[in-house]
Amino acid sequence: METRSDELLAAAREAAGRAYAPYSRFTVGAALLGADGRIYVGCNVENASYGLSLCAERNALFHAVACGCRAFRALALAAPEPTVPCGACRQALAEFCDGGLPIALGSLDPAAPVGRTTLGALFPAPFALGAVRDGGRG
Ligand code: THU
Repeated sequence: METRSDELLAAAREAAGRAYAPYSRFTVGAALLGADGRIYVGCNVENASYGLSLCAERNALFHAVACGCRAFRALALAAPEPTVPCGACRQALAEFCDGGLPIALGSLDPAAPVGRTTLGALFPAPFALGAVRDGGRG
């Protein structure tokens, strides 16, 4: 399947440039390719009350859902050094993506090597509520 990896990585880098990370200084951008062909980006947004901070991945995912997209073909990340999604973001992604979702792990430097994995490799056993899960999607 066409995952438009270079385009997604470029979008993730651009989003990382808009991160609000005055506390960690770790700027992250995420770009999700929707099944609708659109690219949905997010960046991390921190808060003085640290626990309120939102990761780039969930920001991108929730942005997409708010735009009406609930199915995805690929995810790309860009950070000062290549990073995998945190556990909370893996669970959030698993709500809408299957284990085959390709994930490109990029850095802010477009010339640096890109890591490749899948959601299933990172998170093989998501929590789910079975029948309630589908019924609860609204
Ligand atoms: N962060 C993300 O946005 N995505 C990740 O996958 C890991 C961590 C953010 C959260 C926080 O703003 C900063 O990076 C340092 O943890």
